[in-house]
Amino acid sequence: MSAYLELSHLGITFDTDKGPFCALKDVALKIEQGEFISLIGHSGCGKSTVLNLVAGLLQATQGGVVLEGREVNEPGPERAVVFQHHSLLPWLTCYQNVELAVKRVFKGEKSKAEMREWILHNLELVNMSHATHKLPSEISGGMKQRVGIARALSMQPKVLLMDEPFGALDALTRAQLQDSVMEIHADLGNTVIMITHDVDEAVLLSDRIVMMTNGPSASIGEIVDVTLPRPRDRLELAEDPEYNHYRQMVLRFLYEKQKKVETIKPKAQKAASTKAEKQKAGAA
Ligand SMILES: Nc1ncnc2c1ncn2[C@@H]1O[C@H](COP(=O)(O)OP(=O)(O)OP(=O)(O)O)[C@@H](O)[C@H]1O
Ligand SMILES: [Mg+2]
Repeated sequence: MSAYLELSHLGITFDTDKGPFCALKDVALKIEQGEFISLIGHSGCGKSTVLNLVAGLLQATQGGVVLEGREVNEPGPERAVVFQHHSLLPWLTCYQNVELAVKRVFKGEKSKAEMREWILHNLELVNMSHATHKLPSEISGGMKQRVGIARALSMQPKVLLMDEPFGALDALTRAQLQDSVMEIHADLGNTVIMITHDVDEAVLLSDRIVMMTNGPSASIGEIVDVTLPRPRDRLELAEDPEYNHYRQMVLRFLYEKQKKVETIKPKAQKAASTKAEKQKAGAA
């Protein structure tokens, strides 16, 4: 049986000034409806590229993305994206920012009153009812991120794509938002792909953690199935041996198996600069 969302031997080669650069090769993943997937890997390995391919913001040069039997070729509201830095329009209030997305998706389908109710409902889901008529400049970073999530959810996306959604937030705000996202996921059952650099975040939120190898030609290295029961409580889990086992698996992958290799070793670099210095001195 075909999967709800399938990344089928996905690859992309970018044309750069220095020639073709193969960022991803043979990324294959089948995702079930309602699954919460985290993508983790070292900086530059290709996580955002995978997400942008699923969002339809980039075109694969090999393979493709199939959602409910249809190939993804362009962006669409059924695949809503939340970025690391909020992308709210600064001249619109929180309400109006969500309204823009709601109008785009539900115009002609919902009445004005229904749209209004739906916008307020989505702001309530992320605990932002108090700031409905505030501008983005009048609210905190965490609050802006909440409104960004409300805007994405208001489109009733089949798949919610989040690129380091809490990366720019302090630890406490991050924890609060993680809890909100877990509650929303439990309520709505969206399929989620989230990029993170945070191992605890990945284990706490995910059904599966997809760990990517280093690029170029990055692919999926290993997948960890997180079968911890839900709802999950971060304080209880801190002492849980199973939770810590998952953490260890991800840490081991990142820092042993896919340890970042420096392109120039300090010693070689030193030798090179000494040689260059000598040449320079000789030429002078
Ligand atoms: N449009 C592009 N043209 C050329 N190369 C690109 C382009 N977009 C991404 N790359 C390259 O592809 C690789 C993967 O980039 P990507 O942004 O997906 O990494 P990432 O895993 O999201 O990194 P980070 O964790 O730092 O956000 C990098 O080497 C990057 O330089
Ligand atoms: Mg990225």
